[in-house]
Amino acid sequence: MNSCNVEFVYQNRIFKIKNPNTNETLLNYIRTKLKKTGTKEGCAEGGCGACTIVLGELKNSEIKYKAINSCITLLPTLQGKQLILVEDLISKDGLLHPVQKAMVNYHGSQCGFCTPGFVMSLFSMFKKYSKFEDNVIKDSIAGNLCRCTGYQPIIKAAKSLKNKNKIDHFAKNKKKIINLLKKINNRSIVIYNKGKRYFAPQYVQELKKILKKNIDTNFLSGGTDLSLSVTKERKDISSIIYMNSISELNYIKNNNKYIEVGASTPLIELESYIKKYYPDFTKILKRYGSPQIRNVATMAGNIATASPIGDCLPLLLSLNAKVVLQDLKKTKILFLDNFFTSYRKTKLKKGQFIHSIRIPLFENNIFKAYKVSKRFDDDISSVCAAFNLEIVKNKIKNVRIAYGGMAAIPKRAIYCEKVLLNSLITEEIIHKAKKALEKDFKPISDMRASRLYRMEIAKNLIEKCCVEIKQKKLIGVYF
Ligand SMILES: Cc1cc2nc3c(=O)[nH]c(=O)nc-3n(C[C@H](O)[C@H](O)[C@H](O)COP(=O)(O)OP(=O)(O)OC[C@H]3O[C@@H](n4cnc5c(N)ncnc54)[C@H](O)[C@@H]3O)c2cc1C
Ligand code: FES
Ligand code: FES
Repeated sequence: MNSCNVEFVYQNRIFKIKNPNTNETLLNYIRTKLKKTGTKEGCAEGGCGACTIVLGELKNSEIKYKAINSCITLLPTLQGKQLILVEDLISKDGLLHPVQKAMVNYHGSQCGFCTPGFVMSLFSMFKKYSKFEDNVIKDSIAGNLCRCTGYQPIIKAAKSLKNKNKIDHFAKNKKKIINLLKKINNRSIVIYNKGKRYFAPQYVQELKKILKKNIDTNFLSGGTDLSLSVTKERKDISSIIYMNSISELNYIKNNNKYIEVGASTPLIELESYIKKYYPDFTKILKRYGSPQIRNVATMAGNIATASPIGDCLPLLLSLNAKVVLQDLKKTKILFLDNFFTSYRKTKLKKGQFIHSIRIPLFENNIFKAYKVSKRFDDDISSVCAAFNLEIVKNKIKNVRIAYGGMAAIPKRAIYCEKVLLNSLITEEIIHKAKKALEKDFKPISDMRASRLYRMEIAKNLIEKCCVEIKQKKLIGVYF
């Protein structure tokens, strides 16, 4: 069934927005139409967390709660979801939610501009996890900035939640909310508003039908890149197809040869899945934006954006990943190696979309990845590097090395690979491999790093990788 209305659950009932402005942000709607001003605007680009709200989404008849940045979320994507704002945490009897109480008790709030965002991130943690270990707490608030109290009181408040009763008023109302969500869940959206178009199909076939008549459209997945053209560049996006409404494309499969990730799968799901196969992939994803970003952002969006500092890209290149493309008629499978053509340009053609990504499983290889950025959390890479090595009887039998931040596109270090191939890992070889990087890359200076610094850390990461392999005896007695 198609609808031009956006329906969502708010405060235990269904809200309907008729034919909304397709470029309006959720934050703007919350503050100006719902008149709920607890949610703040700080940066308007997903970086500070002041606008954090929580969405409830139905998955296998259960509600999954996700903290997101409402400043870079387009309003129509609210369709079929539960909206939870900081004002809604207080119960009907006027009692503070355990998370709010903890923030008060531990003096976690001073100026209060960041506080609603912190409260919502901690609320999302409270609903998602059963134990609040240090790493869970730190990860949960990695997307929230505070300049006043410092983080210690907030962390102490979060720790104190461990003994709290988890049955809050949301848990008590769960059945009712699930029933409401079921009523509005299975619905495709088509909105025409003042020359702007928005489509949220439910199936790939439906997507293709829309594409037939709207070849000049923009695909919107998590919107963590695309929406910034509205919030920062003040541009209009005239035609949008929302990909994350297609649950058919939200999957992770594994056939023992490769992991296939559907285009609409949020990175947060890949982050836990891939840990078993490539722990360093998870390590990088943990530092990819923030939970608010990873709750919606996709690998497909990262690939299509083709930024030279896209963090998935060197990892996927070193793992020799393939990208599955579809258009109205055909499916094409390309090696990612051949996908990036020049700065932010790819082989994607008009009307073609990324269907999925295939990540080969190298059982016997060592995979290592590193991200160097100015700040540990929620920062863009200065350099990101990934190493995929097969070592047999002391020698490197296969090697794929790729870097982000070193060229106009994410790129393999071919000369460096040549030096390492069929070699023992000795000090001399490491030195030669480092030198070869000067042939591979001519990095530029920008606000994130100078070209000299980039080259220096790129070289040092080769050494770091080799030393770690040696120290951890990842290849047994070969050194
Ligand atoms: C605060 C913040 C922090 C960030 N931190 C990081 C970081 O640490 N590392 C990093 O690499 N990136 C980071 N990013 C960038 C961004 O989050 C990633 O590039 C993300 O993976 C984009 O995915 P998305 O689903 O949000 O894409 P969207 O914004 O929805 O789309 C991005 C582009 O891809 C196209 N597209 C989307 N899906 C498809 C598809 N299925 N087929 C074809 N084209 C498609 C869109 O049309 C658009 O051009 C950050 C962004 C923000 C705002
Ligand atoms: S306002 Fe800063 S993340 Fe949204
Ligand atoms: S209390 Fe967070 S910025 Fe002041």
